[in-house]
Amino acid sequence: MLRALARIDDGAIERNCARLAAVAAPAALCAVVKADGYGHGAPEAARAAQAGGATWLAVATAGEAVALRAAGLGGPVLVMGALSPGELTSALRARADVVAWREGFAAALAAHPDRAGARVHVKLDSGMGRLGTRDAAEATAVAEAVAAAPGLELVGAMTHFATADDDPAFAREQLAGFLPWARALADRHPGLLLHAANSAATLGIPESRLDLVRCGIAAYGMDPCGVSPDPHGLEPALELRSYLAAVKRIAPGESAGYGRRFVADSATWIGTVPVGYADGVRRALTNNADLLVVGRRVPLVGTVSMDNVTVDLGPGDPPPVGEPVVLLGRQAGERVLAEEWARRLGTIPYEITCAISARVPREHHR
Ligand SMILES: Cc1ncc(COP(=O)(O)O)c(C=O)c1O
Repeated sequence: MLRALARIDDGAIERNCARLAAVAAPAALCAVVKADGYGHGAPEAARAAQAGGATWLAVATAGEAVALRAAGLGGPVLVMGALSPGELTSALRARADVVAWREGFAAALAAHPDRAGARVHVKLDSGMGRLGTRDAAEATAVAEAVAAAPGLELVGAMTHFATADDDPAFAREQLAGFLPWARALADRHPGLLLHAANSAATLGIPESRLDLVRCGIAAYGMDPCGVSPDPHGLEPALELRSYLAAVKRIAPGESAGYGRRFVADSATWIGTVPVGYADGVRRALTNNADLLVVGRRVPLVGTVSMDNVTVDLGPGDPPPVGEPVVLLGRQAGERVLAEEWARRLGTIPYEITCAISARVPREHHR
């Protein structure tokens, strides 16, 4: 019995990607496996995604691309983030595609000793207000400089949506701003790949799929809109499990946890589950979550500690020490979704699985 375990169903990732690939076709599927595959384990997630039909992988950092190559992953890997000079060298040596939007960066690429065969995507900021240039003329100049530089290959033109999950009208405005520039560039550079869509756009804005879709959250079976994966035909891939490490009777007026934030109003059994905020069970879930024990929901009571949480098992005969506990995932007919934690915490499911810390071992199964 492991103290804490994240069980990842690689088959679910494969099936989610097969579903996304079918939805996106004829656009190709790029599986986004940054942040250790949103907490699921990047190399395993990448392999499962490829088995499901993803022909591209994307990460945020050069180090993540290096790690994928070291794990034996082939095929195109796009590093989507900004790159310092040292990171650019690592990305090029890992044969990763890089993103450019400044002329200075294009010049550095053109002069780089590792530039041979370097593959470049140019990013227009159509409204995200983060990476990329807002200036279409600058984006064009960068693209033409890349195309003209010996050793460099202009591969893609991209943008990123700010609101595909909650304001598709604004995403459509962004698309309308991106497409004239991107299509004109593609006319001059046949074969250029145009890409914009994340998971929410892939599922909800068909005209945004273009040549390639970049899906992260949906590949892991979570709803980009934070409600439920079911209507999208997606399966959550991650379960967080632990066990009852202690079971004790408390009398009315007795409390559990730091700060006495749960005080029993009648006699009950308290179970202690040895996972806490250092594992990714956020402290704001204090008195605000259900765990699954013997196939039913039991309330998390008291303060989430660094290494433990407590649950109210009720007044009847309690389950024994050693009983399995599910924090995220299914047990019998019940389930707790990352979307539920996200709602309770006022955040997004992305943050829930990314927050499951390195202290929690990952076990992959199918
Ligand atoms: C540029 C870019 N494209 C695509 C994605 C994937 O987004 P999602 O996980 O919503 O599918 C991300 C992730 O945040 C991103 O930064």
